[in-house]
Amino acid sequence: MARASEIREMFDTIAARYDRANHWLSLGLDLRWRRTMARSLPLDADAAVLDVCTGSGDSLLCFRRPLGLRVGLDFSRSMLTLAYRKARRRHVAIVWVEADALRLPFRAEVFDAVTIAFGLRNLADPPAGLREFFRVLRPGGWLAVLEFTLPRWGPWRWVFGLYLNRLLPVLGGWLTGHRAPYEYLRRSIQAFPHYEALQAWLTQAGFQPTTLRPLAGGVATLYLAQKPDRAGRRERGEGE
Ligand SMILES: C[S@@+](CC[C@H](N)C(=O)[O-])C[C@H]1O[C@@H](n2cnc3c(N)ncnc32)[C@H](O)[C@@H]1O
Repeated sequence: MARASEIREMFDTIAARYDRANHWLSLGLDLRWRRTMARSLPLDADAAVLDVCTGSGDSLLCFRRPLGLRVGLDFSRSMLTLAYRKARRRHVAIVWVEADALRLPFRAEVFDAVTIAFGLRNLADPPAGLREFFRVLRPGGWLAVLEFTLPRWGPWRWVFGLYLNRLLPVLGGWLTGHRAPYEYLRRSIQAFPHYEALQAWLTQAGFQPTTLRPLAGGVATLYLAQKPDRAGRRERGEGE
């Protein structure tokens, strides 16, 4: 695992070309995945949502309006600047916070939902991050984690592996002028826990048993988890 300062520096370096590279490297699927994440959460119109590792802010722009409060948090100032400009162009009110995901500058139990897209893998201590998300969620609140995974189906896993190992670093380097972040992306996806292993972390952090939804055949997965309400029950869930 790279150090937090190295990760921040890496994202500061590629910020200007981050969106364009993302959309090309995923053939536009990244936008659809974030929309799926945002719309899977059963939120009321006055809900307070925190997007951790918000990057260029796309996840928060995917939620249907209105929402009570949108907060985007990241430790890369260059990424936040990009996010701020994008939200202003689209006239969406978002509070941007420059901070570390492992030390959220919020009181306990203030958010109805916490989302994190392609960010958990980058934290120095992902289980500690999940505990921090649990802390700031109100009882009954939702956590959505969107993360790359390795497909379970052998042939598709082989094809995706070929893409990750051979194409991604070259294309990423070409699109951003920096190859190292895409070598890191490849390594971090392969080393990160997938599916039930990540669900186990969620359970250990205190969340209720979760649903997982593979996207694009398992290239990415959406994990939904809920903080139990005060009586320890699960509230209304996805599609219920
Ligand atoms: C791969 S990007 C994902 C950005 C965005 N969520 C998206 O879907 O495109 C990861 C982001 O996490 C941020 N990040 C990584 N570790 C962090 C930490 N410990 N605290 C806050 N932000 C962090 C990086 O600065 C970067 O903007």
